[in-house]
Amino acid sequence: MVEAVSNALRNERLVLGESVFKFEEAFARYIGTKHAVSVSSGTAALSLALIALDVRDGEVLTSPFSFIATANAVVQAGGFPKFSDVSEKDYNMDPKKIKGNLTKRTKALLPVHLFGYPADMDKLMAISESQGLKVVEDAAQAHGAVYRGRKTGSFGDVGCFSFYSTKNMTVGGDGGMVTTDDEDIARLVSKLRDCGRTSRYVHDVVGFTARLNTANAAFGLVQLRHLDEWNERRRAIAALYSKLLEGEPQVISPLQGDKKVLPVFHLYAIRCQRRDELAEYLSSKGIECGIHYPVPIHLQPVYREMYGYAPGAYPISESLSSSLLSLPMFPALSDDEVKRVSEHLLDFYRRSSR
Ligand SMILES: Cc1ncc(COP(=O)(O)O)c(C=O)c1O
Repeated sequence: MVEAVSNALRNERLVLGESVFKFEEAFARYIGTKHAVSVSSGTAALSLALIALDVRDGEVLTSPFSFIATANAVVQAGGFPKFSDVSEKDYNMDPKKIKGNLTKRTKALLPVHLFGYPADMDKLMAISESQGLKVVEDAAQAHGAVYRGRKTGSFGDVGCFSFYSTKNMTVGGDGGMVTTDDEDIARLVSKLRDCGRTSRYVHDVVGFTARLNTANAAFGLVQLRHLDEWNERRRAIAALYSKLLEGEPQVISPLQGDKKVLPVFHLYAIRCQRRDELAEYLSSKGIECGIHYPVPIHLQPVYREMYGYAPGAYPISESLSSSLLSLPMFPALSDDEVKRVSEHLLDFYRRSSR
């Protein structure tokens, strides 16, 4: 990766150099879309996609249980973020709850493939088709995840990816990608990320400076070649955790996938009793866990203030916020380390039941 970056810095333009276009081509081929347009972050991917789909003054229905950027992008595109609660099984938007949250102003659905587990795209696409809604997939945590033989990010009008450093693949800094089969959307997003240019000093839309740097694209090209192998390792780690934790009734492990769904375990989040005490106990043993997400988006101060949301609006998301714990998960984690984490975790519950 360092060599690829160094070569790009020596031989290419710093901005919109050859590696950018090579990375876009390789990423589109990998996801299975006709086009991929690189941008400066996952948030930029979402907001430029929503601007290109013209959701201005309309509502975009999304998950309240995601990273805040999902909803922020809607606001940045001039739309209103509306929420629909998630399913207790896969933590993604629950198709059964969507119809009750649609209004005449709804323009698009914005499902999130949370923690690398694909949302129920058959049902979501059927709803969007019957209601005439656009679909933007937030695949920021789901590079390489598969649903019915197709990669996430290839179902909706647009797919959006983040390459932030904690993601399943990165570009050695911030970055993002928009995937689409629609040539007009691809062209518009390319223009929006590049100051709205049609040529060097001619601009026909109000654009942004939201390009991916050449050096980052060169880094991403190398990462992409490792992605499948890293995702495979994440699945093996997840399977081992689930096997080791199976007998503990106070822990619910995440879904492992089936014939229809191949998840990529961006995170391995267990639903557990006494979550905060467990996290503290593991931390005292030198095991750092994460909490995704301690506050659902609708209860973030800015969203309460802007839209008047209050506790109780999306009960499943609120309950997940206080019961999910993300265990260590990265491809370089060894089986012995997974066993150590699991043993300490089981010990915590054993001690407290004595
Ligand atoms: C679900 C989700 N959506 C959007 C984003 C935003 O991506 P970025 O941080 O690259 O702007 C992230 C990650 O940070 C994310 O996890």
